[in-house]
Amino acid sequence: MYSFSFSVAVPLSASYGYEVEAQDDPVVHTFKNFAATAIPAATPEQAVLLMLFPFLLRIPDWLPGSSLKREANRTRDLAIQLTEIPYRYAEERLVTSNERPITTMVSDHLTRVPNHTDQAQRARDIFDLKKTAVSSILAGSDTVLSTLMAFTLAIVLNPRVSKRAQAEIDTVVGTDRLPHFGDRPALPYVNATIREVLRWCPPAPLGEMISKLRLLQRVWKLSLAGIWHATSNSDVYNDDWTQDCATGTTVVANIWAMSRDEARFPNAEDFVPERFLNDGDEYALSFADVPITDQGIDTLAFLEASEGVVRLFKLLENPAFAPVVNDINGNITKVRTRYLSNPTKSATLELLTLNEQSEKKNTATEGMMWLFRGLSFTQQSLHTAQSDSKIELSKAFEKGYGDSLGKHHNFIVRGVFSLAMNACPKRNDFYTKLAADPDGGPAVASADVNGELDKWLQALDKNVAQMRKVYKERGYGEI
Ligand code: HEM
Repeated sequence: MYSFSFSVAVPLSASYGYEVEAQDDPVVHTFKNFAATAIPAATPEQAVLLMLFPFLLRIPDWLPGSSLKREANRTRDLAIQLTEIPYRYAEERLVTSNERPITTMVSDHLTRVPNHTDQAQRARDIFDLKKTAVSSILAGSDTVLSTLMAFTLAIVLNPRVSKRAQAEIDTVVGTDRLPHFGDRPALPYVNATIREVLRWCPPAPLGEMISKLRLLQRVWKLSLAGIWHATSNSDVYNDDWTQDCATGTTVVANIWAMSRDEARFPNAEDFVPERFLNDGDEYALSFADVPITDQGIDTLAFLEASEGVVRLFKLLENPAFAPVVNDINGNITKVRTRYLSNPTKSATLELLTLNEQSEKKNTATEGMMWLFRGLSFTQQSLHTAQSDSKIELSKAFEKGYGDSLGKHHNFIVRGVFSLAMNACPKRNDFYTKLAADPDGGPAVASADVNGELDKWLQALDKNVAQMRKVYKERGYGEI
């Protein structure tokens, strides 16, 4: 029951900001009743009955054979309650709460739904918002529940994994508090265990969430297995997809096949988190995915994306960049340490610095300034390399350095940097490494590498410009 409540609590919190009661929560209760009524009702037999005799939904309640109609009505009523109760909660909180409500899918969209003079349009917008939000309860609860179940099974079957993960948590987090997302980078084994759970038992093996659809498919001969996608451009998949994949081609992701790929995951049926430790394929958040709200740049996402820059420099495997990497790493740690000391008041970079300054402290604010100078160096150097395909990397980095970090370093450090650039890797080697597949597969086409790099740089530009402005306006220093 606890796992069930928790699994419903996750989407309710993310989409509505609704925190469930530990016991007897009304929304959890409604969802439980809904699932208990709707799922058994959606059987192939019922579907065939209704398809052949649609009038069954119209017969009076007192007639024998009307149970189908009564079940349908009850399911509909529960679905309406499930849509309305958490939505009204989020709507009321937005209006009545003195505190600024945390940003959730519903609160964010409600503040953005225009106050149409056209009331009919506003009603349509609200209708869409309600339906989209409730779909996250359906999409999020089953997936989270089955992940928890798979995790429990994996841990029971593999006590050595449980011991190692627990030891890591005890060392990093201690025993007097629970872990939170800020601890994630310091818990590599726990992260690897979660990734292995999702690989070992993917909750949506064909991108499919409602297994009942498979049954209906058999009855109605519909191709419902999996969530369909259509290609928005024509494409070629690997070299072995002999036919070009035209625009509009239907594609279903076969997550199960990927998770059982013996070349990538030897002994794929075994539960082995170690396969995700230092596999060089760790998830690096792109700056393009760092949320920027009216409260500012999301701190944790920003720090994760900044760690991606460290990886980029490490890819160059060149001692010339060691001081930059150490500098960026050190400043990431300063900002993260501040975040961990007060996560609720540090949700965005803007809030974190404001809160630190209010305590007359400066460590993270200063660390962040140097972090942004380091990012600005990366940004400007790579922009130069991207805009001139003939320029050598050493020249691009020297120029980037002069326009960013160099302005804040003394002549000794500038001299050291200039010397180090003699060992800078060749342009071709850098781009070849960016395109290479760490698993030994075919390299990515250079047009795609350039496209991705440009997208990443544009997003980085936005982050740097925003914080440069904040630092200037608040008088924290020049980025
Ligand atoms: C372990 C947890 C989860 C897994 C493995 C998972 C997996 C998936 C997959 C495979 C899809 C289909 C993607 C596609 O093919 O387009 C999907 C879609 C979706 N998921 Fe999740 N999900 C999880 C948790 C959640 C949670 C917690 C929420 C809500 C807060 C959520 C909301 C959604 C929604 C709304 C869609 C549909 C998106 C669209 O229309 O494009 N999921 N999920």
